[in-house]
Amino acid sequence: MSAIDLAVIGGSGLYQFPGLQNSERHRMDTPYGPASGDVVLGDFAGRRLAFLARHGESHSVPPHRVNYRANLWALHALGARRVVGVNAVGGIRADMGPRRIVVPDQIIDYTHGRYTSFCDVEGAEVKHIDFSEPYTASLRRELLAAAARAGVATIDGGCYGATQGPRLETRAEIARLKRDGCDLVGMTGMPEAGLARELELEYACLALVANFAAGCGDEEEISIEEIFAHLAAATAEVPAILAEMLKS
Ligand code: HPA
Repeated sequence: MSAIDLAVIGGSGLYQFPGLQNSERHRMDTPYGPASGDVVLGDFAGRRLAFLARHGESHSVPPHRVNYRANLWALHALGARRVVGVNAVGGIRADMGPRRIVVPDQIIDYTHGRYTSFCDVEGAEVKHIDFSEPYTASLRRELLAAAARAGVATIDGGCYGATQGPRLETRAEIARLKRDGCDLVGMTGMPEAGLARELELEYACLALVANFAAGCGDEEEISIEEIFAHLAAATAEVPAILAEMLKS
């Protein structure tokens, strides 16, 4: 077993991992540049957990500027083999309203101009990966079972549409995503999932619904304040889910 039992990449609203004890910080310079911040390694639920804030601990890195390659590489270099990405999302499907927690099983990438592969580097060996199932099925199942044991309701499956951000989408853009089969929309799901697969990491996503996506709820406009309030409520459930997962 690797020295790290689980790595968590925290999204908007999750900048420190609550309950992480005896923690040490690792500043990781990588061949791809610096990670979003220090990897914090500590004890949680009797296991070793590594935490990295995707947007930096003061939320200073926007989704399109996150150094996804450095983040994944840093976690892998420290010995992580299983990674849970926690991502704020907007809900498109009617049952995926604010504060719901979804474990998606598919993703469509609408982002652009991001480094999407470790073989984007001069001289690197070209590596094709199977991505039919973008998330690791066993890790998804573990998350869902742990949430059930912790008494936290989750939705099993859904298609995550990864958009560029940092602005939210237009109603027309969301209507298009819906036609494409997306159930959720977020700005950080890709290239993270693909890079994790390139490194042969197990990877799954806990998607926290912060709002109904544009045109999917009753509101004329989406309130950014409400987004953060809903996000805080959903984020509060995350440690209990992961504690259950690590205990088993
Ligand atoms: N769109 C994209 N990303 C998001 C949203 C949204 O509506 N809400 C939270 N993250």
